[in-house]
Amino acid sequence: MSDLNTLDGAYFGKLQAALNAAAIAQPTLIIDRARLDANIETFIGHLPEGMGYRIVAKSLPSLPLLSHIRSKTGTDRLMTFNLAMLLEIAREMPDAHQLLGKPLPVAAARKFYAEAPAGARVQWLVDTPERLAQYMALADELSLPMDVVLELDVGLHRGGFAADETLKAAADALRASNTARFAGLMGYEPHIAKMPQKHGLRDKAVDSAWEIYRRARVLTDCSNNTGAAQSLTLNTAGSPTYRLYTDTSLANEVSAGSILVKPTDFDTDMLEAHVPASFIATPALKVLDGINVAGFDLMPGREPEMPDGHAKTVYTFGGNWMAKPVWPEGLLVNEKYGRSSNQQMMTGPADLALKPDDFVFFRPTQSEAVLLQFGDIAVYEDGAIVDTWPVFGASA
Ligand SMILES: Cc1ncc(COP(=O)(O)O)c(C=O)c1O
Repeated sequence: MSDLNTLDGAYFGKLQAALNAAAIAQPTLIIDRARLDANIETFIGHLPEGMGYRIVAKSLPSLPLLSHIRSKTGTDRLMTFNLAMLLEIAREMPDAHQLLGKPLPVAAARKFYAEAPAGARVQWLVDTPERLAQYMALADELSLPMDVVLELDVGLHRGGFAADETLKAAADALRASNTARFAGLMGYEPHIAKMPQKHGLRDKAVDSAWEIYRRARVLTDCSNNTGAAQSLTLNTAGSPTYRLYTDTSLANEVSAGSILVKPTDFDTDMLEAHVPASFIATPALKVLDGINVAGFDLMPGREPEMPDGHAKTVYTFGGNWMAKPVWPEGLLVNEKYGRSSNQQMMTGPADLALKPDDFVFFRPTQSEAVLLQFGDIAVYEDGAIVDTWPVFGASA
């Protein structure tokens, strides 16, 4: 897999030739299928025996992309974050089990049941007693067996239940209902990966998150990995933290999405074994000699501030994305002179080997919003664009 760690002129030359052969001449999101598959294999290889995998749909927002990952991993579990995606997946993947990754207003759940195909399998995420009452009332009104997973605050402090009597009361209320059902717990803890190792802060965050999760399991009567607890969703993690789970004693499934395409935000020590698999390619419309920033020609003796040795100015087709330039080497966005969604100014060294209409490549910093901005994803494999994968509509 060592060649997958190399992002050099030979690699981007092949991507460029593939784009040209496919007559692509506009900003395009590329997924490299061999790299994606390597990440899937790495990910599955890291999961401990018996650990379930839930695909985070918002981070991989394309049905064919999700199907591809499902076929490689064998999972039928997805984590979904809005009504539009929930409905589309329910229609197009009737065998999928969806867990909401954030609590939605009960009105969204009502709309879902009005529009979704019968038998769609959804677990709703609930964060407060008030929302629980609303969901339970809806379940009663519709006489539907509605599965509810309770959101825990394991230290991220983005809301959710503490491991206390309120949580216990919520699980008890669900267990006493004839319609709504207690379906499990979800404790998401990406803050752990942001904690410095220094002073043992990261270890403390791990210990504290796991202690809260364990207490929550005791309070909700599912502390043993036997019997009824086995059929519950006991969800944790995300890409930044999935490697922390080396057995299933705390949780029986991890969610992850982004790491399979590895945007730059996921370039961390813990995720070193994964390789970048998503790129934005955009034509350089103009490659100009010198650094000409508007206004400086009117101020003799003043020069724009540029990195040492920069002597070319490039304007790209678009460019104001959550993304970092990766090729050609040395080509930079100068934040000081602003971002443009139409033609982004970039600068590079005097020996920059770039001609007008050549491609400039970026890596997304995150996948969830960025993958929705370019229309169909161009799938690259073995030197060619081999497929196009439509993406979901852009809703948060
Ligand atoms: C509840 C929850 N679980 C898991 C994830 C992980 O997603 P990813 O693996 O794409 O970082 C997220 C991302 O926001 C989330 O909100």
